[in-house]
Amino acid sequence: MCGIVGYIGDRDLLPILLVGLERLSYRGYDSAGIAAISDGEMSYWKRAGKIRELEDTVKTLSITHAMGIGHTRWATHGESSEINAHPHVSQGKKIALVHNGIIENYLSLKKQLTKEGHIFRSQTDSEVIVHLIERYLHDDLEEAVEKAVQDLTGTWAIAVVAECDPDKIVVARKGSPLIIGLGKDENYISSDINAIITHTKEVVYMDDDEIAIIEKQNVTIRKIGGEVITKKVNHISWDAIMQEKGGYDHFMLKEIYEQPAVIRNIISKYINSDNTIEFKHINLEKQDLARVSRFIIQACGTSWHAGLIGKYLMEKYTRTLTEVDFSSEFRYRQMITDGAGGEVVVAISQSGETADTLACIREAKCKFYNILSFVNVKGSTIDRESNAVIYTHSGPEIGVASTKNYLAQLMCVYLFTIYLGQLKWTLSQEQVDLMLQNLKRVPEYVEQILAQADKIKAIAEKYSSSREFIFIGRGLNYPSALEGALKLKEISYIHATGYPAGELKHGPIALIDSDLPVVCIAPQSATYDKMLGNIQEVRARKGKTIIIATEGDESIAQYADDIIYIPLAPEDLTPILVAVPLQLLAYYIAIKLDCDVDQPRNLAKSVTVE
Ligand code: M6R
Repeated sequence: MCGIVGYIGDRDLLPILLVGLERLSYRGYDSAGIAAISDGEMSYWKRAGKIRELEDTVKTLSITHAMGIGHTRWATHGESSEINAHPHVSQGKKIALVHNGIIENYLSLKKQLTKEGHIFRSQTDSEVIVHLIERYLHDDLEEAVEKAVQDLTGTWAIAVVAECDPDKIVVARKGSPLIIGLGKDENYISSDINAIITHTKEVVYMDDDEIAIIEKQNVTIRKIGGEVITKKVNHISWDAIMQEKGGYDHFMLKEIYEQPAVIRNIISKYINSDNTIEFKHINLEKQDLARVSRFIIQACGTSWHAGLIGKYLMEKYTRTLTEVDFSSEFRYRQMITDGAGGEVVVAISQSGETADTLACIREAKCKFYNILSFVNVKGSTIDRESNAVIYTHSGPEIGVASTKNYLAQLMCVYLFTIYLGQLKWTLSQEQVDLMLQNLKRVPEYVEQILAQADKIKAIAEKYSSSREFIFIGRGLNYPSALEGALKLKEISYIHATGYPAGELKHGPIALIDSDLPVVCIAPQSATYDKMLGNIQEVRARKGKTIIIATEGDESIAQYADDIIYIPLAPEDLTPILVAVPLQLLAYYIAIKLDCDVDQPRNLAKSVTVE
């Protein structure tokens, strides 16, 4: 999704903005631009395509003692083109604006402004904002921005600069994230910490309906139409080095290989030396948690798959009714509550900024549900707006395809299930001890799977020319099948579908022929025999089977065109293990097809529009 970066201070402006834009690029973008005010004059540059194009345009320039704003655009209204790229400038080219979000009433505003004589250059919704600011600007930019945003319906994070007010960047937020980075005699703005973390770790998170004036030595934040407010300064614990590729060809591969360390970190964060589980940021009383009668999990994409696995675990070990829904669907359905206060909405989100998920928790809060969130990015909007948070502690995830955070989500959901099972007395101490003992072996198991990367690469290359894949699994590994298919299609653009294996015969089996690879997730489990039957149904129709099975299961090899083994582990932990070969399979297929795995076409890392 779109990204914003801005700087005011004495240093060379353009490298700060360009590096910031590069660091935002993982969010997904199709064009980029910059506006600067120096010596009271505004200049701006924008290009469709890669940031490199923009860089080539400005590389000979040096602008110091200045301020500027930059933007990466992910098209919503209007195609990807130079004219639709941000910044958008006012008619007189004295004001520049960058915007993230969607202005829902832009058509009526555009009509009105056109009547007043404003000429629009782009097809975007964003451009109306700069024309509105121009309409209201006499000599005070802050006042004009404040008036303009009051005319808007929708979501926005905006940053505005103007020639008439050359020492300030004015920013405002409603519904889209915006962070202010604090420096000494310099300040920054960004839609995400990645763009500014090399410069400062002291940040202020803007909340909805706030406006801020960013000057070299000052930051002033007010509620729209209200008094100045004092906000908490937060210290960021992530290091800039975590955002580097560290010798790997792609962030995705680096993040896949980081998984054993991520899991070890989660174990050390949440399991005490006396084998008790502790979640420091669950601000719900233990007795209230023990009384929860229903969990409603809502999430998107990979996080939704983690939620599906959470349902299996929570129902099995805590005997608590657990529903899972896509955030984008849940938000618009009737939320039916028993009125007894025993229901908790669980949001799962890596970024903590996914607009659909955020909208759900806001709606659920209005209906008096408590919100428990599993979030990776500390300080994100979902983190700040939840009653209780479990951090997934996977560090910055830059690859658009979620990998290490998925495993982290599964680990955290598993730990939460055990914690809740203890509170609800549905798990005995012996069961808990055994579950934790097994869990602690997971990093080693993941390392053993990573050691087979060459074999998985060879399998990936063998099937890379297939134009379609089916993934099947049962029980806890039905969501694994969905996740395997999602990974493949998002980075390789090959059509792939995940099914519960038992559903094959109800329709999808018609697709099977000798050209179709079927990835069969078949570790040792309660439904292993049924799975074996489903694999044979595929074989009988000449489908190509790539089987993921448990080490030592030699008999299944006779049904496999290719086989990948995972270490023997309890069924509940197999989704964590099978995810790794599925990630590597997708990665190596995409590499073979020469796809941009870290920034796949059309995709955004953090989807901040509904
Ligand atoms: O940040 P979130 O976990 O809320 O994001 C949800 C999805 O957008 C995300 O998982 C997406 O599906 C990934 N690209 C999957 O790899």
